[in-house]
Amino acid sequence: MDKYVTGAVIRKLREDKKMTQEELAEKVFVSSKAVSKWETGQGFPDVSLIEPLAKALGISVIELLSGEDIKNLNRASNMTRGKFYVCPVCGNVIHATGEAVVSCCGITLPPLEAEAPDEEHRLLAERSEDEYRVELRHPMTREHHITFLAAVSDQGIQLVKLYPEWNAEARFRIDGVRDLYACCNQHGLFRIRV
Ligand SMILES: [Fe+2]
Repeated sequence: MDKYVTGAVIRKLREDKKMTQEELAEKVFVSSKAVSKWETGQGFPDVSLIEPLAKALGISVIELLSGEDIKNLNRASNMTRGKFYVCPVCGNVIHATGEAVVSCCGITLPPLEAEAPDEEHRLLAERSEDEYRVELRHPMTREHHITFLAAVSDQGIQLVKLYPEWNAEARFRIDGVRDLYACCNQHGLFRIRV
């Protein structure tokens, strides 16, 4: 994994709880030297300690691994605020409706930040009676291609995976779709609101 619980996060959560290194060490049955090592980046807590550590710090495992205390954030999940994760190794595409720690092929994946399309990634959406036909004029070679197109509404997501040599196009039911997405394997995620 390229992202694991970091020393800075442990220190911040411990200090928020007004605990000393000794007190935290005692709760998870390690030496205070071990806690000091984690906090100064000289070591990682063993994976078997993640659960007790989260418990001692008063947060969930997910919160600990995502590096933030999310208990005070608005967790109402909304499809149109969902996030896409794409594995650079196997091409897996994952959509989450809320905060998540997503890992694939041994890599913790960052959520993709959607941008407004540039000239090369313009999404052409043609609306017919009950569907959008979405197309990009973009290379579809192995090295450089659109990996998926997606249409997201408040209720759900329609996703079409694309492969090299295919056309960069897809059809989506209109069904309350608000955002259209295209993902390029070299240039990232693009979004338009319809
Ligand atoms: Fe591209």
